[in-house]
Amino acid sequence: MKQKTIVLAVTGGIAAFKTAQLTSNLVKKGYDVHVIMSENATKFICELTFESLTKNKVCVNTLERVASYDIEHISLAKKADVFAIVPATANIIAKTAHGIADDMLSTTFLAATCPKIICPAMNTAMYQNPITQANIAKLKSFGVQFVSPEKGLLACGDVGDGKLADLSIIEDAIEMALEAKKSLQSKSILITAGPTQEAIDPVRYLSNHSSGKMGFAIAWWAQALGANVTLIHGPTHQAIPYGVHAISVTSAKEMFDAVTSHYQQQDIIIKAAAVADFGIKQYAPHKIKKADGINCITLEKNPDILEWLGQHVQPEQVLIGFAMETQNLIASAKQKLQNKNCDLIVANHLFQDGAGFQKDTNVVTFISKENCKAFDQMSKKEVAHEILKEAISLLNKKGESLC
Ligand code: PMT
Repeated sequence: MKQKTIVLAVTGGIAAFKTAQLTSNLVKKGYDVHVIMSENATKFICELTFESLTKNKVCVNTLERVASYDIEHISLAKKADVFAIVPATANIIAKTAHGIADDMLSTTFLAATCPKIICPAMNTAMYQNPITQANIAKLKSFGVQFVSPEKGLLACGDVGDGKLADLSIIEDAIEMALEAKKSLQSKSILITAGPTQEAIDPVRYLSNHSSGKMGFAIAWWAQALGANVTLIHGPTHQAIPYGVHAISVTSAKEMFDAVTSHYQQQDIIIKAAAVADFGIKQYAPHKIKKADGINCITLEKNPDILEWLGQHVQPEQVLIGFAMETQNLIASAKQKLQNKNCDLIVANHLFQDGAGFQKDTNVVTFISKENCKAFDQMSKKEVAHEILKEAISLLNKKGESLC
């Protein structure tokens, strides 16, 4: 596969030093990263840092450093699969919004036809100034994507909007933009992820070992493929993927309420969450004392969300469930496919090497009405991509048969 090229443009703000870490992360992932710096950016961080990290020559705005200036900006613009300005000052936002091309960075931006991302970082008043906001709106109307800054303590001492977005969010946005095939464009998808927690008293709860990695990876890919993604997740430490609408819940009942109030608008529903099958019948408002023993805890069955969905989904909606077992995986998964009226069950075995809770990999078998497809070990991101390819094919088949 052709190595993807990322052009990172760095402008003159204190957050410029963070772009070195971003560059290093992207290089480690195997991308060909080229850096262009504004002259002011070189006052915050030097070219050598980026040249050492990328092994590519850094272009700065002084004409002396770029021997064939005219050709250089066009060739970089042509080569770029994505162009990101990190951090972007109010000045570069204003210039690009007005088509000003008076240096290497702004000329390359104007010449590039690939997806473009701008990650602003500046003083709050400058960011909130209606002039900057109008420039941002104008660029957005031309399809430029913005990764909004966060609220925080700024270098100038103010606290407010203007802190460069978290690097993991920027990395997400860049990698998602690299996915050219937006095969889920205009589709809505609901994903559940992570564990649920069933409160016993203010101190204790009943839960399981799900980290949310599997479900979050599906949400990441669905977003990269252009879908409108709703992620309903239990307590987890995973970062919300860029652009995903996340709803945080704690218990199975809360997850049930969130899913049942969002399922109707969806084209595809994927239930990767490890929902607790049992909840606590009577929540104790005060810490249960040791002397009271465990006999005072009574369990009750939680709603089976997937089963409920199987009874309520429309014929054109695709419903995908998971099955996680420690024995008789395939037989149980086939039963779940039928009992819960799913289009597909993704089966994974907790005791198999490289599969199950918390790992970065999984080993899955797809079970549908027609066939059973076993996969070798893959990263959870790769599994997520395979699930979505299957979901798209099921959606298309349903569309054809309902015509
Ligand atoms: O989160 P990770 O650490 O990455 O781990 C991933 C995973 C192991 C959690 C994931 O791959 C997985 O298998 N998720 C489903 C776990 C599970 O609850 O399996 P199950 O066989 O008990 O449930 C079958 C299906 O019914 C699942 O889609 C589940 O979401 C759903 N269910 C279960 C119980 C319930 N009360 N309501 C439900 O909707």
